[in-house]
Amino acid sequence: MADKKARLTVDGLEGEIELPVYSGTEGPDVIDVRPLTGQGLFTYDPGFVSTAACESKLTYIDGEKGILLHGGYPIEQLAQHSDYLEVCYLLLNGELPTPEQKEKFNNTVTNHTMVHEQLSQFFKGFRRDAHPMAIMCGVVGALSAFYHDSLDINDAHHREVCAYRLIAKMPTLAAMCYKYSIGQPFMYPQNELSYAENFLRMMFGTPCGDYKVSPTLARAMDKIFILHADHEQNASTSTVRLAGSSGANPFACIAAGIAALWGPAHGGANEAVLVMLNEIGDEANIPEFIDRAKDPEDPFRLMGFGHRVYRNFDPRAKVMKKTCDEVLAELGIENDPLLKIAKRLEQIALEDDYFVQRKLYPNVDFYSGIILKAIGIPTNMFTVIFALSRTIGWISHWNEFHSSPNKIGRPRQLYTGPKLRDYPTK
Ligand code: CMC
Repeated sequence: MADKKARLTVDGLEGEIELPVYSGTEGPDVIDVRPLTGQGLFTYDPGFVSTAACESKLTYIDGEKGILLHGGYPIEQLAQHSDYLEVCYLLLNGELPTPEQKEKFNNTVTNHTMVHEQLSQFFKGFRRDAHPMAIMCGVVGALSAFYHDSLDINDAHHREVCAYRLIAKMPTLAAMCYKYSIGQPFMYPQNELSYAENFLRMMFGTPCGDYKVSPTLARAMDKIFILHADHEQNASTSTVRLAGSSGANPFACIAAGIAALWGPAHGGANEAVLVMLNEIGDEANIPEFIDRAKDPEDPFRLMGFGHRVYRNFDPRAKVMKKTCDEVLAELGIENDPLLKIAKRLEQIALEDDYFVQRKLYPNVDFYSGIILKAIGIPTNMFTVIFALSRTIGWISHWNEFHSSPNKIGRPRQLYTGPKLRDYPTK
């Protein structure tokens, strides 16, 4: 696998240290730094800005060009021609399904959508005004207490069953969070509906009447699920891999991923974007917020802008913007004031030197909130929708980790604390 070598000289060390260099199918070469440990050296890379923590076949991002591929397929094509469950199959299996495989996969997921009845008792322990992400951390972790029959992480079949259970139950649990917060009864899933339709019905239907799912909204919801499905080694996925590396069960690992996703620098940004747009309130106030974002003394950042990997348009944001226009047009929401502010903000930021020089472009979270709001999803549920969609990415990475020889994740450190000293005895 190592077709090239890097050679390193270090002051105080004799000779050269030879390090293998590997080439992937796409992307930059990576230097294998493992031989350094034998020389008493570690590498230092806070924030993992230049560290490949694993080998993976699932997703590829070219941040400079703004390209995102799942199994080699561009995200724009998947969003246009595929559907979320097919993308789930692709991420789990590495190939698109045949029609028979697709039908079987969809049926299996559909037949796992109900949650254990006892699980509904967990919700009652939360305050009605609890943040739904707090509830999700708890109830998804609690799934490990219900499915003892599939917790052998060394058994490929057990891992597959866990993946089905997680993909299937996340929409049910997400909708239960919402229903609990507004005091309405939980809605059971319905097997004849598609994944997105089922979610919308469990969110907005009630036992008192029929809920007709709008095909436009279901398609938009499905696109949102696709656009968030995976994004290689981001903070939450790395968290899931790291938690999984200790041998923890998959439900506990996904709960850890949900916790990592919650922060505003990651998945919490979609909620933060809408809060920010409301706070801006009027196009006339945009310059004030742009100035704040540029002020190094002010912690305020333009939410929905910037990305660790993309130094170009986030390809997901492009699809999201188009979907947003389509959804608002089909719903007859002309002149949405928040959309107006968002479009103007984007235009100003894209022309401003500060953002241009730092290559800060709108990311996936910039437009998703506006669509979710138009669909009727409350702001505090936005990150839950991200978690629901990303579950397939998390579980696929977790499964990939366990499908090949692996090691517990254990980073080292540059210690700068006190040197060895004696405890004062007088
Ligand atoms: N507004 C203003 N300035 C920014 C922003 C922003 N949104 N993002 C980065 N910068 C500046 C930052 O202050 C720094 O400036 P300087 O070089 O003068 O110190 C420079 O750009 C580089 O930023 P960084 O913090 O070193 O970059 P990072 O790769 O560590 O952070 C990020 C990436 C996404 C956390 C950051 O851009 C950010 O906080 N964005 C806002 C939150 C957001 O939208 N997050 C969603 C990410 S996409 C969805 C997901 O994958 O979860």
